This record gives sequence, C-alpha cells and structure tokens, in this order.
Amino acid sequence: MEREPLNVADYERLAEEKLDPGAFGYFAGGAGDEVTLRENVGAFRRLRLRPRVLADVSGVSTAATVLGHEVSMPVLVAPLAFQRLAHPEGEVATARASAREGTIFCLSTVATAGPAEITEGVRWFQLYVFKDRGFTRTLVERAVEAGFSAILLTADTPHLGRRERDHRTGFQVPAELVPSLAGHDLLTPEQTFASMADDLSWRDVEGLASMSGLPVLVKGVLTAEDARLACESGAAGVVVSNHGGRQLDGVPATIEALPEVVEAVGGRIPVLMDGGIRRGTDVVKALALGAEAVLAGRPFVWGLAAGGEEGVLAVLQLLRAELELALALLGCRSPAEVTPAHIARG
Ligand code: FNR
Ligand code: LAC
Repeated sequence: MEREPLNVADYERLAEEKLDPGAFGYFAGGAGDEVTLRENVGAFRRLRLRPRVLADVSGVSTAATVLGHEVSMPVLVAPLAFQRLAHPEGEVATARASAREGTIFCLSTVATAGPAEITEGVRWFQLYVFKDRGFTRTLVERAVEAGFSAILLTADTPHLGRRERDHRTGFQVPAELVPSLAGHDLLTPEQTFASMADDLSWRDVEGLASMSGLPVLVKGVLTAEDARLACESGAAGVVVSNHGGRQLDGVPATIEALPEVVEAVGGRIPVLMDGGIRRGTDVVKALALGAEAVLAGRPFVWGLAAGGEEGVLAVLQLLRAELELALALLGCRSPAEVTPAHIARG
C-alpha cells in the first residue's frame, strides 16, 4: 500500500499483502458459509446513532473502568491464538502495545508465548479446559504466578468450528510455532482442539474461580438463558461473543445478541462484548446497548502483521481517536455518558 493506512480496513489489506494465504485465511476466516462472520460487521453498520448537540464536549476523555481496572478506553485486546504466525514477536508485541496504550491484554491458551513472557500491563488469561484436568490446573497456576488478574473461560468451543478456508489452503501451524501444550504433534488447530474437554458445564465456573482465586468471566454467551446461569454460577462477568463467527455459523451478530443478555443480567455483573468492532462508532453503539466494554480481535492482528508492536499500537491509537471523535459528536464527554437514548431502537 502506498498510502498510510487510515482505518482498520486498510490495515487488513496490508496484512493480506504480508501474510501467506494460509495464515491470512486462518485469521480472517469463519465457520461454514461465514454468515455470522459477515453479520458481526454488517449488523453494526445497520444501527443508527442519536447524537445530542450543544452538549459542551470540551475535555472529552475515552478513559473508563472495566472490572475495576482503569483503562484508557473501553476497548480490550481479545485473545487470539498463534500470533507468531502474523509477526515473529507475536503475543509479546501485542501485549506490549496494549500496556503502552493502557488497556487490557488477553492471552490465549493456545498462544505462541507463555504467560511468563507477558509481563507488562493488566493481563487476563483466556482458558481452554483440556480433557487432562491436571494439565489445565497447571496452565491456570502459570497464569496466576505470572500476575494475570482474571480468567476468561471460553465456553463456545466444545469442538472447533469447521473453517473451510483452512481446508482449502491446507493450513497448518508451522511445527516451530506450536505451543508446548498437550503434546508435540498438534499441528492444525483442529488437532489441538481434539485434546480439549467437551464436558464442561456451569459447575466448572465456580470450581475454576476457587481454584485460581481470580474472577472468572464466561466468554461466548449469546442468550438470556445462559446470561442468567452465568450470574447464578458465580461468573464475574460475561462476554457476549460468537468467537468472531468461527464456531456455530448462523448465530446472531453479537451486537444483536447484546440487548437480551444485558436485560437478563440486569446489572448484576458486567457485560462485555466482542465481534465486528472495526470503528470507534461501533464501540459507542455497543456501549449504548449496555456493554461495559468491548474487545476486538482481528484489528490488532492486522496491525501486528503490518508492523509488529508499533503496528498494534497504531491500531489501538486509531480506534481510540475514532472513539474520542464519536463521543464528542454524540454529545458525550466520556464512555460512561453513553446511554440507550444514544441509539435508535426497534
Ligand atoms: C480467535 N478467538 C479466540 N478466542 C478465544 O477465546 N481463544 C482463542 O484462542 C481464540 N483464537 C482466535 C484466533 C483467531 C484467528 C480469531 C480471529 C479469533 C476469538 C476472539 O477472542 C474474539 O472473540 C473474536 O476475534 C472477536 O471478533 P473480531 O474482533 O475478530 O471481529
Ligand atoms: C480459533 C481458536 C484457536 O478460533 O480459538 O482458531
């Protein structure tokens, strides 16, 4: 690209130029016909904002509090697997950029860096539970020792969704990047997931909280029924997520599922969301529909592929600048001032 990237879509094009088709397809792709993948972005575009004018927006700030942590903006870095596929510094670079920007970094269980390598800023550990529960306990203990402050229990992957792009490209994680987890011959994401537990239930949430001593957020909730169960099971929060359209194709866009989850939770615990955040205006839409904060995944991996740590930082700064402008034009001085009245319903 000759021009400087102006937005997340420009970073995606840069990443596509840099990455080999297998890796790009792994990061970009979704399950099945990718209906949900497209809807995550499309549903944001259909929502309309209701700005207030003459609202004195001098001194607008994007700062927010998420689960008691002060962050520079209510945009967190979602857990994405295998980031060294995008750049040799992988998760270490993404985490450093997140800390420099002042937001929270989530490390995947199947990261190409261990918790001990991620040392700066507020860090949450995304947990996949393995059939081998002793091994799972070791993973959690490593994260606790390394100073991670919450567990994101991913609940939507009893089996890995079928991503046809990966079959078309014959995508494999290169042997030298395979995380040293449950074995050494797990070269495709599907093989890796064959060793994950598929018998998790709501009872595991409390067990995990007492085992780790950390707050446990359940990631992958899409319905009011599960939102209520999360509250009753001792979850510290829920993340409305469809895994970036990579699991069950045909589920709603997360911004469409958010209102029913917010209503069912009824303020008992924080509701976060991810999926399809590409603009600052998407962030204010999610806040207006009741999210305490959002996470974004692919935008940061595009920044990572384009320019390592500086590339991730550039995407973080871009989203923060877009959020600041969206807040001001909406008539809000801070994320906390965004309310349901700022979005057209129905
Ligand atoms: C993911 N996601 C994910 N989630 C998780 O809990 N553990 C993981 O290891 C991964 N790995 C992963 C890899 C890739 C390539 C993608 C695209 C996604 C899901 C991720 O945390 C998040 O839910 C979505 O990425 C959010 O959607 P956007 O922002 O990418 O649209
Ligand atoms: C994925 C897994 C690793 O979505 O979460 O590829």
